[in-house]
Amino acid sequence: MKHSNKILISSIAILALSGIGSATITEASSNALGVNNQNENTSVQTVNENNKSDQQNWIHNLTGEKFTTIAHRGASGYAPEHTFHSYDKSHNAIGASYIEIDLQMTKDGHLVAMHDETVDRTTNGTGRVDQYTLKELKQLDAGSKFNEQNPQYANSNYKGAKVPTLDEILERYGTDANYYIETKSPDVYPGMEEKLLDTLNKHQLLNEQSLKKGHVMVQSFSQESLLKMKDLNSNVPLIRLLDKGELPNMSQQDLNYIKQYAIGVGPEYTDLTKQNVANLKDTGFLVHPFTVNEVADMERLNDYGIDGLFTNYPDLYKQVINEQ
Ligand code: G3P
Ligand code: CA
Repeated sequence: MKHSNKILISSIAILALSGIGSATITEASSNALGVNNQNENTSVQTVNENNKSDQQNWIHNLTGEKFTTIAHRGASGYAPEHTFHSYDKSHNAIGASYIEIDLQMTKDGHLVAMHDETVDRTTNGTGRVDQYTLKELKQLDAGSKFNEQNPQYANSNYKGAKVPTLDEILERYGTDANYYIETKSPDVYPGMEEKLLDTLNKHQLLNEQSLKKGHVMVQSFSQESLLKMKDLNSNVPLIRLLDKGELPNMSQQDLNYIKQYAIGVGPEYTDLTKQNVANLKDTGFLVHPFTVNEVADMERLNDYGIDGLFTNYPDLYKQVINEQ
């Protein structure tokens, strides 16, 4: 699903309605960053007028790592995505930095970990997640399709794997684990942001120490959702995801605006170049591209200066980090 056009239009509307003076904010930050506002519609190609990056000002991962390993839907290359099998593998066996979680909401209002809005691709059921009660969703088998599609990694224990709730995930991995949680557009699931914050709070993940150490990051393709998160709790670190093709078409002014609410961006990795990564870093962002599964790409992106990445194979990235 392409989110960018809808997001841009809706975000402009939100900002206009909410009275945030976007022109004033972006002009001010553009000036502070030494960006030429007359060029606001030009896509970003250069770092600054000397084409030199000032690495001293770059922001670093809250975990303290130079490169952070974000296990995309868990270690989903090896085990069924968004099940305890893939999370156990990434967190316990591999020791990835973050468990990545996509949120959907059931008919009776429970937040569950699932990437698609329908259950068809990953379970033996059919239909939309929001048409299932949690009890009904728990009847589905979220493991057998992985076995059929990945015979080299098939495991009989995966058969009958359950779709986990966010509450169950946070209970299982506790306050020492790190969670990189994706919200959807508020019009898909009204109230998702409030429920997310309530659940994080219940698990003591919103206290100052926890947030400072990066135990929770909230990511979204939806600017609207991130602005809502910021409005509800301005202390939660936010990451703006950028669909393929979105970054190359962004002006510096667009980036400066995102910087007003997000500490980082998650671009689709093939959009990245050495130059635009340096510019993103100089603009003040963490840069966490998705979804990188080849060692050569991991090495190249690390050389560009990214801060970590989303991968289905967190063991491969950890190996790359150790060897670089
Ligand atoms: O959240 C980063 C990455 O997961 C975005 O892509 O579609 O896998 O959620 P998607
Ligand atoms: Ca995701």
